Amino acid sequence: MLGDIPRALWYEATARDPLPRQPEHELVMNDAGTVSDYTSCGTEGGALFGPYLYNAAQVSARVRTGDLVLDLGCGSGQLLNLIARWNPATRFRGIDLAPNMLAEGRAAAAAAGLSNVDFVEGDFSTLDGIADGSVDAVISSMALHHLPDRGALTRCFDAIGRVLRPGGALYLMDFGRLRSDRSLEIFVAKVAVSETKALTQDYRASLHAAFTPGDFQTEIARLSRRNVAFYRTPLAPLAMVAATPARNMVPGGNALFHQAVRRLSRTRRAELAQLRMFLGLGGLRFPR
Ligand SMILES: C[S@@+](CC[C@H](N)C(=O)[O-])C[C@H]1O[C@@H](n2cnc3c(N)ncnc32)[C@H](O)[C@@H]1O
Repeated sequence: MLGDIPRALWYEATARDPLPRQPEHELVMNDAGTVSDYTSCGTEGGALFGPYLYNAAQVSARVRTGDLVLDLGCGSGQLLNLIARWNPATRFRGIDLAPNMLAEGRAAAAAAGLSNVDFVEGDFSTLDGIADGSVDAVISSMALHHLPDRGALTRCFDAIGRVLRPGGALYLMDFGRLRSDRSLEIFVAKVAVSETKALTQDYRASLHAAFTPGDFQTEIARLSRRNVAFYRTPLAPLAMVAATPARNMVPGGNALFHQAVRRLSRTRRAELAQLRMFLGLGGLRFPR
C-alpha cells in the first residue's frame, strides 16, 4: 500500500491538466477577524513562521546595503519586519490594499524600533504611484495567488518590470496549482492534523487559487530579465519561486537565521527543513 504522500504524488504525476482555478473569496484581507487569525499564524511558533524564516534567508541573500526593497502583498508585515531587522542598512516598503493589515505592520515595526521599514496602501497588480526603475528589489511571499485572474498576473509582472531597476533583484514565492483534487485533499489533511480549521481552510483556498508553474514561467519569460529563474517543488508544485541569483546573507544574517531556527519546536523545524529540501531538489540553493 502506498503511503499518503507517495499516493498524492502519484495522483499528480498521472493527472493531465491543472485543476481549474478558483480565485480567493477574500482577495484583499481587511476583515478584522481575518487579519487577527492570519497574524497569529505568523508569530514565532505559528505555522507561517518557518516559511517566513526560509523566505527571510532567501531575500537577505539578494538585497544590498542602501537598496529600496518592495514587498508585494506584505499583509501584516511579519516577514518584512523580520527581514528589516536582519538587514538594518537596507530600506523596505510593504505594499498592500488592506489598511488593517498595514496598521498591524506599522505597529509591530514601531514596537520593534525598526526605522528602515514602512507600509503603504497600494495595488500590486499596477504599482501605480511607484516611479519607473525606482526599486532595487521586488519580493513577495504567498500573495500573488490573491490576484483575481490570469490577466492580473500579467499586469503585475508588467508592473514589476516597470518599477524594478535594470539588474535589480527579485524573489517571488507562492503556492502552485495542483493537478488532482485527491492529492490536494491529502496535502490539506496533513495541515488539518495540527492546525486550526481557519488555517486549514485558508490553505485549501490558496491551493485552489494558485497560478500554475506554466503561468509563472510564461510571465518570467515575458519579463525578459536574463537573470530570473524559476524553481518549484518537484512532482507537486506546492511552492514555486521566481528569483534572481542569491549571494551570501549579510554578515551575521546566517547566525540570526540559525538562532531563530533553534527556537522553533521540533515539528516546525522539520517543516522548515522539508521546505528547504524540496525547493533544494527543485534547484533553489539555500544561502549561507
Ligand atoms: C495571504 S496574504 C500574504 C501576506 C504576507 N506576504 C505573508 O507572506 O504572510 C496576501 C495579502 O495580499 C493582499 N492583497 C491581495 N490583493 C492585493 C493587491 N491587488 N494589491 C495589494 N495587496 C493585495 C491581501 O490584502 C493580503 O494582505
